[in-house]
Amino acid sequence: MLEVTGLTKTYKQKSVVKNVSMYLNNGETVGLLGPNGAGKSTAINMIASLLMPTKGDVLLNGKSIMKNPADLRNILGVVPQEIALYEELSAEENLTFFARIHGLKKAELHERVNDVLDLIGLSDRRKDIVKTYSGGMKRRLNIGVALLHNPKLIIMDEPTVGIDPQSRNYILEAVKKLNEEKGITVLYTSHYMEEVEFLCDRIYIMDHGEIIASGTTEELKGILSSENTLVVKLERSSEEMVEELKNRADISSVKVKDTELTLIAPKNVNLFSLVIALSEKWQVAITSIELKNPTLEDVFLHLTGRVLRD
Ligand SMILES: Nc1ncnc2c1ncn2[C@@H]1O[C@H](COP(=O)(O)OP(=O)(O)OP(=O)(O)O)[C@@H](O)[C@H]1O
Ligand SMILES: [Mg+2]
Repeated sequence: MLEVTGLTKTYKQKSVVKNVSMYLNNGETVGLLGPNGAGKSTAINMIASLLMPTKGDVLLNGKSIMKNPADLRNILGVVPQEIALYEELSAEENLTFFARIHGLKKAELHERVNDVLDLIGLSDRRKDIVKTYSGGMKRRLNIGVALLHNPKLIIMDEPTVGIDPQSRNYILEAVKKLNEEKGITVLYTSHYMEEVEFLCDRIYIMDHGEIIASGTTEELKGILSSENTLVVKLERSSEEMVEELKNRADISSVKVKDTELTLIAPKNVNLFSLVIALSEKWQVAITSIELKNPTLEDVFLHLTGRVLRD
């Protein structure tokens, strides 16, 4: 459906998106996962034809959107990272306003506004002005605006940032339903790995403007299939022990959070015996030790040496 090739954005000689290529098949949910400042918004704004690329192209069913942006805009709904609503208007009035921009009229307009209010779970609050809504309700309405013209493709830029877990679950379930029941293709941007793992058929991991890995969750975790992750809780923190672990060439990663250490090493390294030996050497008792199944967070850590979230 959509093919992105060599997408690049350069601001004053600094490339914030570098040679990004990706594709979306019809009916797929695709995740774009990356930390703050990775270049996610810049990339998807170019894909949505809201921002001119420095280089590269976006093809919709084989045709460049640079020449035919209207083809894409007709089938695309964009949920921006920043909430764009009229605070003094009600949900119903906001939706009616945006529906008119899409050229919807009378019965059809009324029907679409009702459908969308239902979908985002705001039918009972439709008459209340947006100013009185919670953050989660505003987010839901922001998504509703993008759905008014029955898009075939939606691009969502971190639609769950800063909201309560209940609203977040509601949004995730609603997006899943849109995909499963209406066959809408979804490009979903997030820095929460659990969200893309729950929602997405395939994931692109982005860091410093570049796609550093892509595939299904299973494929991405497969990157770590040759390694083990061990989580060790200590009775107290020990700089000496951490230092010694970090200096070892056979350990690929050491992450420290208070008294908890997360170690990644090739499967042939016996992390258990090593950790026990070091705890005896430095006189630090171990309170628990656990071999973990890899998460996407671990994949990111492995690829970049950093954690996805602070
Ligand atoms: N108009 C601009 N001019 C100069 N630099 C920009 C501009 N827009 C974005 N950038 C820079 O590009 C980088 C990527 O920003 P972008 O907003 O795409 O990241 P992001 O992955 O969406 O981050 P976040 O998770 O915080 O939304 C940042 O370093 C940002 O400062
Ligand atoms: Mg962003």
